[in-house]
Amino acid sequence: MTTVISVATSVPVLGYLLSPLRRPGREDAWISLGPLSLVPDGRPVEVPYLTEVVDGWIRETVVRRAIVLRSDSDVPTVFSGTCPHLNCNVRWVDQEGRFVCPCHGGVFDRDGRVVAGPPPRGLDRLDARVENGVLLVREV
Ligand code: FES
Repeated sequence: MTTVISVATSVPVLGYLLSPLRRPGREDAWISLGPLSLVPDGRPVEVPYLTEVVDGWIRETVVRRAIVLRSDSDVPTVFSGTCPHLNCNVRWVDQEGRFVCPCHGGVFDRDGRVVAGPPPRGLDRLDARVENGVLLVREV
């Protein structure tokens, strides 16, 4: 009887403890950014999106920003709008033709490469694909 009770109580507890390991990771989640036709050619456009973040046992939905750059390719380039230095939001500055981070002066060129400032690498890219005219991205 003790064994039955032990098994009966341990299964839910194990399920709870292992649940973050069983759930699909972010890499499996494609997120819709909407119709690609709304993104103009040649000019980066910021698109906010919601994503789920798991930190230990804390799971929350957060707003992130993608920067979509449409060119001749069928699938646009999509950058994370988060600076790889200390996670501030980068902005596209038309007059300079560059991405600028206001926090510590990070500057990135049109291809997301670091031009100036402390960022240790270029802007992260999101996987992107187009399905039925809708732009889908996923964080990598
Ligand atoms: S957070 Fe962007 S340069 Fe520091």
